[in-house]
Amino acid sequence: MCGIVGYVGSKDACPFLISGLQRLEYRGYDSAGISTLRPTGGLGVTKVAGRVADLDSALQRQALTGALGIGHTRWATHGAATEDNAHPHIGGQGILSLAHNGVIENYESLKFALQAKGYAFRSQTDSEVVAHLIADCFKNAAADQHGDGSVQSGIEAVQEALSQLRGTYGLVVMFRDYPDLLIAARCGSPLVVGVGKDEQFVASDTSPLVGFTERIIYLADHQLAVIRSNNIQVLHRDQGRIRPDIQTLSSQTVDANLEGYGHYMLKEIYEQPESIQNALRGRLDKDNATAKFGGLNLTTQQLRGIQRIILTGCGTSWHSALVGEYLIEELARIPVEVEYASELRYRNPPVDHDTIVFGITQSGETADTLAALREVKRKGHHTLALCNVIGSSIAQEADGGVYLHAGPEIGVASTKAFTSQLTVLSMLALYFGRLRHLSFEAGQRIISQLESLPSLVEKTLECHGQVKEIAERYADATNFLYLGRNYNFPTALEGALKLKEISYIHAEGYPAAEMKHGPIALVDERTPSVFIVPQGTVYDKVLSNLQEVKARGGPVIAIVDHDDRQVTNLADAVIQIPQIEDFLQPIVAAIPLQLLSYEIALLRGCDVDKPRNLAKSVTVE
Ligand code: F6R
Repeated sequence: MCGIVGYVGSKDACPFLISGLQRLEYRGYDSAGISTLRPTGGLGVTKVAGRVADLDSALQRQALTGALGIGHTRWATHGAATEDNAHPHIGGQGILSLAHNGVIENYESLKFALQAKGYAFRSQTDSEVVAHLIADCFKNAAADQHGDGSVQSGIEAVQEALSQLRGTYGLVVMFRDYPDLLIAARCGSPLVVGVGKDEQFVASDTSPLVGFTERIIYLADHQLAVIRSNNIQVLHRDQGRIRPDIQTLSSQTVDANLEGYGHYMLKEIYEQPESIQNALRGRLDKDNATAKFGGLNLTTQQLRGIQRIILTGCGTSWHSALVGEYLIEELARIPVEVEYASELRYRNPPVDHDTIVFGITQSGETADTLAALREVKRKGHHTLALCNVIGSSIAQEADGGVYLHAGPEIGVASTKAFTSQLTVLSMLALYFGRLRHLSFEAGQRIISQLESLPSLVEKTLECHGQVKEIAERYADATNFLYLGRNYNFPTALEGALKLKEISYIHAEGYPAAEMKHGPIALVDERTPSVFIVPQGTVYDKVLSNLQEVKARGGPVIAIVDHDDRQVTNLADAVIQIPQIEDFLQPIVAAIPLQLLSYEIALLRGCDVDKPRNLAKSVTVE
């Protein structure tokens, strides 16, 4: 959450900083700022309460030059989205600039102590406390053995300040007196250093670095990078200087091009035939009627010994976990529990020895999921990540895992990552099933269904025009219900979440039968109910639930998988998707729900790719 960039070299820092912030804007976009060391000396800062585009306009009016600079795009935690609360923050009397991600838990006591020493605060943020704290430590460090002005005083000041912080941070600092020094430090909030030739870069993920360098260093927790234009040193809090592990930036680069689509969300919805194909690629083993995975890091014996699986994640990824529960229990007969990562971390459930824990996450940076996995790992359980972003924190920390290969997901509302997660979970269920009781024939049947997915999803996208018309009829509603059963109960939850987050319409997802235990009171002629009612084991039951809504005057939008006369006679609008077996229906049924939320959000004038209050990657707990 929040994006950080930094540059040290001989070129003007601003072009990299602005392009980096644009690429990081999906992490937070309520205010933005940059700071440079002016060629004439002194720190310049430009900040805006608004988007990176507003910052860019402000810089067009008044340029900030300098070959040392840092930038930040914010998702507010402490203090409203105002110019004063935007980063970078100045420490002391213009001694340093700082950009910070994360949450400082003891900021109030630190602030109190700094105020008592005369430091004046301009913002309500916890981050400004860090800036003044480093400035204070710098005064002390410079006053004793390093009063000669060597950069060592700056490094020690940062180290001393960090030792006083409780909470999480990814931060970058530059000093007025050190034109060739950036310090970056990490504890719980990701940072990557980009290694260049006579210039170096810092960013909170790899996206800003694409096109600038291919050599990167992922900082780990408690590491601090001392970055000069021709040299990088990495220091660990406990181990001192360590040799940095320079990696090559993966080819999974940010495709910042909308390719003619109006929004990333729409582009990503339309990419799903391909992203699903990429999730399947190389993983289906027809000879043995199973799936194969390279990175689980468990022996076949260990895999056969698994007695229980915990699936954890947040938001859309948690919905995938719910589908995963149905899939794995049905196909592999292994008991599965689904936990919100934010609850799993603090709930401390008893976890038996033969339990493995999967963290499901698009970004691989979600703080709650990372913390939950760390907690179960600490207790000795094998942790696996089902993750999209290569090299992300969760991908690195888990004991093994599976990448989605969905490509960058830029739209804040998750779409293609969801269907890729479900595709991978289906293959995992097949794999676990085939290690146990699932027959060869059943395995073959599942493989052929999986193989048909990309073309079926392609076909499903043809419903877009029809969905658009339906959106026009219902865009003014203030409440929606989404109802489905069995595999399509999580689909209903996901449909409701999509609508809520990008169109700001209140929507609830429910198991269709559960509706009569309370939510049915919401049904009236102004509250549309979206029923997911394809053929399958619960078809008749869902049809009855649909009739219950119609009997109370509620408008019904139905998603069916054939020319369904029964449903068409009852529903006010019908969307037809292709037929597929129950366990893969959520992948196909999600498509019209994604399109419906997209079209409604557009009609309501909402910012589809950057909905209010949200951020793509939630790196605070
Ligand atoms: C919804 C959405 C969020 C994320 C959630 C977890 O469209 O995008 O609910 O699913 O914040 O994010 P990841 O999957 O990155 O851990």
